[in-house]
Parts: sequence; structure tokens; C-alpha cells
Amino acid sequence: MKIKQELKSMFTEHWKYMTVSAACKLNLFDNIPDIGINQSRVCDSMNFNPEVFDFLVSSLVDNEFLKRNNGILFLTEKSILLTEDNPETLKFACLNWSSEHLDAWQNLDYTIKTGKPAFDMIFGSSFFEHLNNNPEDLNKYHLAMNEYARDDYKNISEIIDFTKHKTVIDVGGGYGALISNIKTNNPQINCILFDLPQVIKNVVPGDIKTLSGDFFNNVPNGSDAIILSRIIHDWDDENALKIIHNCHRALPENGSIYLIENCIDKTDVDFSLLNLNMSVMCNSFERTSSQYISLFNRQGFALISDIKLNQLQTILIFNKL
Ligand SMILES: C[S@@+](CC[C@H](N)C(=O)[O-])C[C@H]1O[C@@H](n2cnc3c(N)ncnc32)[C@H](O)[C@@H]1O
Repeated sequence: MKIKQELKSMFTEHWKYMTVSAACKLNLFDNIPDIGINQSRVCDSMNFNPEVFDFLVSSLVDNEFLKRNNGILFLTEKSILLTEDNPETLKFACLNWSSEHLDAWQNLDYTIKTGKPAFDMIFGSSFFEHLNNNPEDLNKYHLAMNEYARDDYKNISEIIDFTKHKTVIDVGGGYGALISNIKTNNPQINCILFDLPQVIKNVVPGDIKTLSGDFFNNVPNGSDAIILSRIIHDWDDENALKIIHNCHRALPENGSIYLIENCIDKTDVDFSLLNLNMSVMCNSFERTSSQYISLFNRQGFALISDIKLNQLQTILIFNKL
């Protein structure tokens, strides 16, 4: 009886996430001031259907994303983190999983049968090609990645001493949360952000130098350290080796690589769901530290050390031989 009940609840578990994601998509949380707002007022001003909006609000109240007192709606600890102006916002991180990712997941069966990314079958191109041709999707994806990066890498400058480096380049650094952290904590280091042109054109210039290009063609030289964070896990071994080869060409002798990835042998977390996500999106997977080390050894790098960054991620530090 208990198991049946558990099963029936599980089948519709995603509805909870979908209500929160819809609220973010509608900018609902951004329209609720600290002092609260009358439900019908927000409903009228945002042009919602009152009956269905009430269902949404009730579900958000039930899941502690809103509080409702005498018809006045208030944000909660959770929904404050989903407002866009919050410096710690996770609004786009929340939205990320209900857009193209969800479309791909709905075709997981295709990926299981063929071993190919469902994403490519649905959208007619690979994930990064799709983003390059769809500026709005690209911006939303990178805002989401930046929110994760800002949070996941917040301690990086305490964990790694970058001061021995003159110039550090973040290859595939997106909108630059990680390299900005390094610059803020080490203002004397020249910091460079490198990504595809479609990404770099959205980055507001500051004290980080930006360079655009394709890491399969070339990685810019002139730096004595390269950061590769959440890059290699997007690619199969053949493509990963090409990126690592181009990093090798770009570095001087003894130059360093800081590889940041979820090394599955360095944590107790189960990565099977993430592996399915990588499979439906881009035909890749999370690796063990030995698998990463073997890829880097093959391209002329030696492991110097490994350091745990957070619950999921490990930093593998390599030197060019
Ligand atoms: C999963 S995101 C990781 C972003 C960031 N490094 C982080 O840790 O959050 C992968 C990054 O690789 C970049 N990228 C994908 N293909 C690329 C290419 N061919 N050349 C340069 N950058 C690329 C993407 O634009 C994106 O910023």
C-alpha cells in the first residue's frame, strides 16, 4: 500500500518544479514587493487568469515558495532566491531545467535505444550549435551557468593560490563568474575570459580581458595558467583530446591547467541522473579522476595535485611537461 502511494506521488513529482519554473518565467516573484501585495492586484496587473492563478499560488504556498495572509502574498526564503535582483539569485538556474533540457529528457527513450543525444534529434543540431543560433536561449543558458558558477566557485581563491601566475585564462568561461572571482581576490593577475564570439559579445567589459574563438581551432597563448571548468565533461574522449591538445599548444613549458569537474570517484554522490542528462543533451558523461588524468597524460600533462572544491567538484592541477 505504502509503495503504491509512493509510486503514485512520484509520477507527478515534477509538477512541483514546473509550478516554480512557471512562476519564474512569469516574473511572479519579481513582482512581489517586500511589504507584500494583494493577490488580486498582482493578478490584474500581470493579466493572469484569476482561477488558474489561484491554483498556482496555492501550490506555491503549499511548497513554501509564497506565504498568503488575508489575500496578501509574501515572498519566502526560497522565492527571495528566485528574484532577479537578488545578488545570489538562482532564477535562471531554475528556468534552465524546464526549457530545452526538459524537451530532451522527454525523449530519453530515444537516447537509450540509439546512444545518441535526444537533443540533436529534436532540435536538428547539437546543443552548443543550437545556442549559437538562438541568442535568447544562449543568454538564458549562460545566465543560469553564471548563477551556478558564482555559487559553486565562491571559495576558489581561498582554496587555490593563483599568485604564482602572471596571466590566467578561463577557457569556456561563459559570462565570467569564476575568472572575476580570481581577479577580485588577486588584482595583480592578468585575467582573461575566453569563449565563443556569441557568448563574449554579451559580456560587459570590465577589468577582465575578453577574447573570443573556438577551442577546437585554437586556445589563445600568452597565459601561464588555463582554467577548464565544466568543459571536458561536455565532450566525448575524441573531442576532449582536441581541446586538451590546443591548451597544451597555448601554454609555455611548466604552464598549469586547473581542471574543475565532478570526479565521480571523489564523492559519494550518485551521478547516474546527471549522466543521463549529459547523454540526452550532448553525448557525454561524468568521468573518474583516473579517466581525466589519462586524457591529460596522453596530451603531455602531468598531474601535480588534486583538491576538493565542494561537495561535487574536484580540481585536478596539471603541469605541461
Ligand atoms: C558547461 S559550460 C561551463 C561554463 C563555465 N566554465 C562554468 O564552469 O560554469 C560550457 C562552456 O563552454 C563554452 N563552449 C562550448 N563550445 C565552445 C567552443 N567550441 N569554443 C569555446 N567555448 C566553447 C560554452 O559557451 C560554455 O561557456
